[in-house]
Amino acid sequence: MTAELISGKEVAADLRSRIKEEVQSLADTVVPGLAVILVGDNPASRSYVRGKEKASAEAGIYSELTEMAADVPEETLLNKVREYNDNPAIHGILVQLPLPEHISEKKVIETISPEKDVDGFHPINIGRMMTGQDAFLPCTPYGIMQMLYYKNISVEGKHAVVIGRSNIVGKPIGQMLLNEHATVTYCHSRTADLKQFSQEADIIIAAAGKAEFITQNYIKEGAVVIDVGMNRKDDGSLCGDADFDDLKEKASFITPVPGGVGPMTITMLLYNTLQSAKKHTS
Ligand code: GUN
Repeated sequence: MTAELISGKEVAADLRSRIKEEVQSLADTVVPGLAVILVGDNPASRSYVRGKEKASAEAGIYSELTEMAADVPEETLLNKVREYNDNPAIHGILVQLPLPEHISEKKVIETISPEKDVDGFHPINIGRMMTGQDAFLPCTPYGIMQMLYYKNISVEGKHAVVIGRSNIVGKPIGQMLLNEHATVTYCHSRTADLKQFSQEADIIIAAAGKAEFITQNYIKEGAVVIDVGMNRKDDGSLCGDADFDDLKEKASFITPVPGGVGPMTITMLLYNTLQSAKKHTS
Protein backbone atom coordinates (compact mmCIF):
# COMPACT_ATOMS: atom_id res chain seq x y z
CA MET A 1 0.00 0.00 0.00
CA THR A 2 1.16 3.52 -0.74
CA ALA A 3 -0.20 6.03 1.73
CA GLU A 4 -2.20 9.08 0.71
CA LEU A 5 -0.68 12.30 1.98
CA ILE A 6 -2.79 14.53 4.23
CA SER A 7 -1.35 17.96 3.51
CA GLY A 8 -1.90 20.40 6.36
CA LYS A 9 -0.99 23.18 3.95
CA GLU A 10 -3.89 22.20 1.70
CA VAL A 11 -6.44 21.72 4.50
CA ALA A 12 -5.32 24.95 6.20
CA ALA A 13 -5.54 26.95 2.95
CA ASP A 14 -9.08 25.66 2.35
CA LEU A 15 -10.21 26.53 5.86
CA ARG A 16 -8.45 29.89 5.92
CA SER A 17 -10.13 30.98 2.70
CA ARG A 18 -13.52 30.08 4.20
CA ILE A 19 -12.69 31.94 7.42
CA LYS A 20 -11.63 34.99 5.41
CA GLU A 21 -14.91 34.94 3.44
CA GLU A 22 -16.95 34.74 6.61
CA VAL A 23 -14.95 37.56 8.22
CA GLN A 24 -15.67 39.69 5.14
CA SER A 25 -19.36 38.85 5.25
CA LEU A 26 -19.50 40.02 8.89
CA ALA A 27 -17.65 43.27 8.22
CA ASP A 28 -20.69 45.47 8.87
CA THR A 29 -21.42 43.75 12.18
CA VAL A 30 -18.12 42.86 13.82
CA VAL A 31 -14.38 42.66 13.18
CA PRO A 32 -13.01 39.65 15.11
CA GLY A 33 -10.24 40.76 17.47
CA LEU A 34 -7.39 38.67 18.85
CA ALA A 35 -5.06 39.81 21.64
CA VAL A 36 -1.71 38.06 21.88
CA ILE A 37 0.57 38.50 24.88
CA LEU A 38 4.23 37.59 24.58
CA VAL A 39 6.41 37.56 27.68
CA GLY A 40 10.20 37.56 27.29
CA ASP A 41 12.12 36.94 24.11
CA ASN A 42 12.16 33.22 23.48
CA PRO A 43 12.93 33.09 19.72
CA ALA A 44 10.55 30.16 19.06
CA SER A 45 7.69 31.95 20.87
CA ARG A 46 8.43 35.16 18.97
CA SER A 47 8.33 33.29 15.68
CA TYR A 48 4.98 31.60 16.55
CA VAL A 49 3.53 34.95 17.58
CA ARG A 50 4.65 36.55 14.32
CA GLY A 51 2.94 33.72 12.43
CA LYS A 52 -0.28 34.30 14.37
CA GLU A 53 -0.24 38.04 13.60
CA LYS A 54 0.44 37.49 9.90
CA ALA A 55 -2.30 34.86 9.55
CA SER A 56 -4.79 37.08 11.40
CA ALA A 57 -4.07 40.01 9.08
CA GLU A 58 -4.49 37.78 6.01
CA ALA A 59 -7.88 36.61 7.28
CA GLY A 60 -9.08 40.15 8.06
CA ILE A 61 -8.94 39.53 11.82
CA TYR A 62 -7.75 42.44 13.97
CA SER A 63 -4.81 41.43 16.14
CA GLU A 64 -3.02 43.25 18.89
CA LEU A 65 0.31 42.23 20.37
CA THR A 66 1.38 43.10 23.90
CA GLU A 67 5.02 42.41 24.64
CA MET A 68 6.26 42.21 28.22
CA ALA A 69 9.78 41.85 29.62
CA ALA A 70 10.81 38.44 30.98
CA ASP A 71 10.88 39.87 34.52
CA VAL A 72 7.41 41.42 34.39
CA PRO A 73 5.54 40.98 37.69
CA GLU A 74 2.84 38.31 37.51
CA GLU A 75 0.20 40.81 38.62
CA THR A 76 1.01 43.14 35.69
CA LEU A 77 0.40 40.30 33.27
CA LEU A 78 -2.82 39.28 35.05
CA ASN A 79 -4.05 42.87 34.90
CA LYS A 80 -3.41 43.00 31.15
CA VAL A 81 -5.43 39.80 30.74
CA ARG A 82 -8.28 41.32 32.82
CA GLU A 83 -8.15 44.45 30.66
CA TYR A 84 -8.60 42.32 27.52
CA ASN A 85 -11.40 40.35 29.22
CA ASP A 86 -13.27 43.67 29.51
CA ASN A 87 -12.38 44.99 26.05
CA PRO A 88 -15.35 44.51 23.67
CA ALA A 89 -13.12 44.78 20.56
CA ILE A 90 -11.21 41.66 21.68
CA HIS A 91 -12.88 38.26 21.22
CA GLY A 92 -9.87 36.02 21.74
CA ILE A 93 -6.97 36.19 24.20
CA LEU A 94 -3.81 34.14 23.82
CA VAL A 95 -0.88 34.22 26.22
CA GLN A 96 2.02 32.54 24.48
CA LEU A 97 3.48 29.66 26.50
CA PRO A 98 5.87 28.82 28.03
CA LEU A 99 6.03 31.64 30.58
CA PRO A 100 9.02 32.55 32.79
CA GLU A 101 9.42 30.47 35.98
CA HIS A 102 8.13 33.16 38.36
CA ILE A 103 4.74 33.32 36.62
CA SER A 104 2.07 30.71 37.27
CA GLU A 105 0.71 29.42 33.95
CA LYS A 106 -2.26 28.02 35.84
CA LYS A 107 -3.14 31.44 37.28
CA VAL A 108 -2.74 33.13 33.89
CA ILE A 109 -4.89 30.58 32.05
CA GLU A 110 -7.56 30.73 34.75
CA THR A 111 -7.65 34.54 34.56
CA ILE A 112 -8.55 34.49 30.85
CA SER A 113 -12.32 34.67 30.46
CA PRO A 114 -13.51 31.19 29.32
CA GLU A 115 -15.58 33.05 26.70
CA LYS A 116 -12.39 34.50 25.17
CA ASP A 117 -10.13 31.47 25.70
CA VAL A 118 -9.47 30.74 22.03
CA ASP A 119 -6.58 28.40 22.97
CA GLY A 120 -9.10 26.17 24.78
CA PHE A 121 -6.75 25.81 27.78
CA HIS A 122 -9.09 27.06 30.54
CA PRO A 123 -10.35 24.24 32.82
CA ILE A 124 -13.91 25.41 32.10
CA ASN A 125 -13.43 24.76 28.39
CA ILE A 126 -11.68 21.45 29.06
CA GLY A 127 -14.62 20.43 31.29
CA ARG A 128 -17.10 21.50 28.63
CA MET A 129 -15.21 19.46 26.02
CA MET A 130 -15.17 16.41 28.29
CA THR A 131 -18.91 16.61 28.88
CA GLY A 132 -19.67 17.15 25.18
CA GLN A 133 -20.80 20.76 25.59
CA ASP A 134 -20.05 23.64 23.27
CA ALA A 135 -16.47 24.72 24.07
CA PHE A 136 -13.39 26.33 22.62
CA LEU A 137 -11.29 23.35 21.54
CA PRO A 138 -7.47 23.46 21.73
CA CYS A 139 -6.11 24.38 18.32
CA THR A 140 -3.64 21.59 17.50
CA PRO A 141 -5.96 18.64 18.25
CA TYR A 142 -8.90 20.50 16.72
CA GLY A 143 -6.77 20.95 13.60
CA ILE A 144 -6.10 17.19 13.52
CA MET A 145 -9.86 16.54 13.60
CA GLN A 146 -10.27 18.90 10.62
CA MET A 147 -7.64 16.94 8.68
CA LEU A 148 -9.57 13.72 9.32
CA TYR A 149 -12.88 15.35 8.28
CA TYR A 150 -11.26 16.74 5.12
CA LYS A 151 -10.24 13.24 4.03
CA ASN A 152 -13.57 11.74 5.13
CA ILE A 153 -11.80 9.48 7.59
CA SER A 154 -14.48 8.32 10.00
CA VAL A 155 -13.23 7.51 13.49
CA GLU A 156 -16.44 5.91 14.77
CA GLY A 157 -15.76 2.43 16.09
CA LYS A 158 -12.07 2.69 15.19
CA HIS A 159 -9.24 2.06 17.60
CA ALA A 160 -7.23 5.27 18.02
CA VAL A 161 -3.92 5.07 19.83
CA VAL A 162 -2.62 8.38 21.14
CA ILE A 163 1.10 8.47 21.94
CA GLY A 164 1.74 11.36 24.35
CA ARG A 165 -0.36 12.81 27.16
CA SER A 166 0.30 16.55 27.17
CA ASN A 167 -2.49 18.94 28.16
CA ILE A 168 -2.15 20.71 24.81
CA VAL A 169 -2.22 17.75 22.40
CA GLY A 170 -2.34 14.18 23.75
CA LYS A 171 -5.10 14.41 26.34
CA PRO A 172 -7.47 16.62 24.29
CA ILE A 173 -7.08 14.73 20.99
CA GLY A 174 -8.00 11.51 22.81
CA GLN A 175 -11.11 13.19 24.19
CA MET A 176 -12.11 14.62 20.79
CA LEU A 177 -11.74 11.19 19.18
CA LEU A 178 -13.78 9.66 22.00
CA ASN A 179 -16.48 12.32 21.49
CA GLU A 180 -16.62 11.11 17.87
CA HIS A 181 -17.05 7.50 19.04
CA ALA A 182 -13.54 6.11 18.61
CA THR A 183 -12.13 3.60 21.09
CA VAL A 184 -9.13 5.39 22.53
CA THR A 185 -5.92 4.10 24.08
CA TYR A 186 -3.40 6.51 25.60
CA CYS A 187 0.28 5.52 25.52
CA HIS A 188 3.14 7.54 26.95
CA SER A 189 6.75 7.40 28.13
CA ARG A 190 5.92 4.90 30.90
CA THR A 191 3.91 2.54 28.68
CA ALA A 192 5.63 -0.83 29.07
CA ASP A 193 5.17 -2.14 25.54
CA LEU A 194 4.13 0.59 23.12
CA LYS A 195 4.22 -1.66 20.03
CA GLN A 196 1.65 -3.98 21.56
CA PHE A 197 -0.85 -1.10 21.35
CA SER A 198 0.34 0.78 18.27
CA GLN A 199 0.23 -2.40 16.15
CA GLU A 200 -3.49 -2.67 16.95
CA ALA A 201 -4.28 0.93 16.01
CA ASP A 202 -6.51 1.97 13.11
CA ILE A 203 -5.45 5.56 13.79
CA ILE A 204 -2.19 6.60 15.44
CA ILE A 205 -1.69 10.09 16.81
CA ALA A 206 2.03 10.51 17.45
CA ALA A 207 2.71 13.33 19.89
CA ALA A 208 5.67 12.05 21.87
CA GLY A 209 8.40 14.43 20.71
CA LYS A 210 10.85 11.66 19.80
CA ALA A 211 12.45 11.82 16.36
CA GLU A 212 11.31 9.30 13.70
CA PHE A 213 10.85 6.42 16.13
CA ILE A 214 7.65 5.05 14.63
CA THR A 215 8.65 2.67 11.88
CA GLN A 216 6.78 -0.03 9.92
CA ASN A 217 7.00 -2.57 12.74
CA TYR A 218 4.97 -0.23 14.99
CA ILE A 219 1.89 -0.12 12.76
CA LYS A 220 -0.54 -2.41 11.02
CA GLU A 221 -1.17 -2.35 7.29
CA GLY A 222 -3.52 0.51 6.36
CA ALA A 223 -3.24 2.49 9.61
CA VAL A 224 -3.82 6.26 9.53
CA VAL A 225 -0.77 8.05 10.93
CA ILE A 226 -1.06 11.63 12.21
CA ASP A 227 2.34 12.98 13.17
CA VAL A 228 2.35 15.86 15.66
CA GLY A 229 6.09 15.59 16.34
CA MET A 230 8.32 18.54 15.62
CA ASN A 231 11.88 17.45 16.23
CA ARG A 232 15.24 18.67 15.01
CA LYS A 233 17.69 16.24 13.45
CA ASP A 234 21.46 16.54 13.92
CA ASP A 235 21.72 18.29 10.54
CA GLY A 236 19.25 20.95 11.75
CA SER A 237 16.33 19.79 9.58
CA LEU A 238 12.84 19.18 11.00
CA CYS A 239 11.29 15.76 11.39
CA GLY A 240 8.29 14.18 13.06
CA ASP A 241 7.86 11.27 15.46
CA ALA A 242 7.15 8.99 12.51
CA ASP A 243 9.64 7.74 9.93
CA PHE A 244 7.70 9.07 6.96
CA ASP A 245 9.64 7.34 4.18
CA ASP A 246 9.36 3.98 5.91
CA LEU A 247 5.67 4.28 6.83
CA LYS A 248 4.40 5.56 3.51
CA GLU A 249 4.60 2.00 2.16
CA LYS A 250 2.35 0.60 4.89
CA ALA A 251 -0.02 3.35 6.13
CA SER A 252 -3.25 4.33 4.33
CA PHE A 253 -2.93 8.04 5.18
CA ILE A 254 0.00 9.95 6.64
CA THR A 255 0.79 13.56 7.50
CA PRO A 256 4.22 14.98 6.60
CA VAL A 257 6.49 17.07 8.86
CA PRO A 258 6.76 19.93 8.10
CA GLY A 259 3.55 20.85 6.25
CA GLY A 260 1.28 18.48 8.17
CA VAL A 261 -0.36 19.27 11.50
CA GLY A 262 1.74 22.45 11.96
CA PRO A 263 -0.21 24.81 9.67
CA MET A 264 -3.49 23.68 11.26
CA THR A 265 -2.80 25.14 14.71
CA ILE A 266 -2.89 28.81 13.69
CA THR A 267 -5.81 28.08 11.37
CA MET A 268 -7.93 26.82 14.26
CA LEU A 269 -6.92 29.84 16.33
CA LEU A 270 -8.40 32.05 13.59
CA TYR A 271 -11.45 29.80 13.49
CA ASN A 272 -11.97 29.99 17.26
CA THR A 273 -11.55 33.79 17.21
CA LEU A 274 -14.18 34.07 14.48
CA GLN A 275 -16.59 31.82 16.42
CA SER A 276 -16.03 33.92 19.52
CA ALA A 277 -16.73 37.16 17.65
CA LYS A 278 -19.96 35.68 16.31
CA LYS A 279 -21.06 34.62 19.79
CA HIS A 280 -20.30 38.03 21.28
CA THR A 281 -22.55 39.73 18.75
CA SER A 282 -25.46 37.29 18.74
N1 GUN B 1 3.03 27.45 22.94
C1 GUN B 1 3.13 26.43 22.06
N2 GUN B 1 1.95 26.16 21.47
C2 GUN B 1 1.07 27.05 22.01
C3 GUN B 1 -0.32 27.29 21.79
O1 GUN B 1 -1.01 26.61 21.01
N3 GUN B 1 -0.86 28.31 22.51
C4 GUN B 1 -0.14 29.04 23.38
N4 GUN B 1 -0.75 30.01 24.05
N5 GUN B 1 1.15 28.86 23.61
C5 GUN B 1 1.75 27.86 22.91
